[in-house]
Amino acid sequence: MVIKVVNTGEEIGEVAALLFAAQVLKKPDAVLGFATGSSPITTYQHMIKLYNQGVLDFSRVTSFNLDEYVGLPGTHEQSYRYFMTDNLFSHINIPAENIHLPNGIAADADAECKQYEAAVRAAGVDLQILGIGHNGHIGFNEPGDAFVDGTHKVTLTETTIQANTRFFASSADVPRYALTMGAGTIMRAKSVVLVANGEDKAQAIWAMAKGPISPSCQASILQLHPDVTVVVDKSAASKL
Ligand code: F6R
Repeated sequence: MVIKVVNTGEEIGEVAALLFAAQVLKKPDAVLGFATGSSPITTYQHMIKLYNQGVLDFSRVTSFNLDEYVGLPGTHEQSYRYFMTDNLFSHINIPAENIHLPNGIAADADAECKQYEAAVRAAGVDLQILGIGHNGHIGFNEPGDAFVDGTHKVTLTETTIQANTRFFASSADVPRYALTMGAGTIMRAKSVVLVANGEDKAQAIWAMAKGPISPSCQASILQLHPDVTVVVDKSAASKL
């Protein structure tokens, strides 16, 4: 695991976007794994800048997102599809048919998870970006007794519901379930970049990088991955 400590959230975005740029330059039909939340936003902004400068072309890229809320259609402002369209897809040239997110309104969630997992495996993610929850979650893999392998339906923890309430009118409006790639799905990505900033992520970053490998901190499984780059600011790195 390579840990790159920078000064600001802006710099996190610059560095992580360079990793995506290198990936797409060396493999124009790369399969990219995307995340939502506040952490990757500066990365997406720098990727858009590189696209606007003519450095990057996403016309042959395929993407798979980590997760989606159950019950929210892609037109809902808090759905992860909406977030991705707003923060990245509407600004670059990934063909719509190459964009994949779990379908949060699928009638049969289990069938949707199986189909999504099969599609991710068949494509093979080259580079996956991750944020990290305060409780060490990656995707929506919450602290628990096991690392789950494939894409699956999860019940969100109270911590996560509270953390995500800031995006909704009230905590009662936050969906209680989500579909997420499993820790195993994430581990099959060839390369991973994890981004985090702020003092409030310092404990999770410590547990991810230096704590025991345990499902009580789902991100700790990344210690077993051969190609992980962690890009953090000084505050998030303060406990390392
Ligand atoms: C979202 C996701 C989550 C977030 C995590 C951190 O797709 O995978 O694991 O990365 O909850 O969220 P932020 O970046 O908002 O602190």
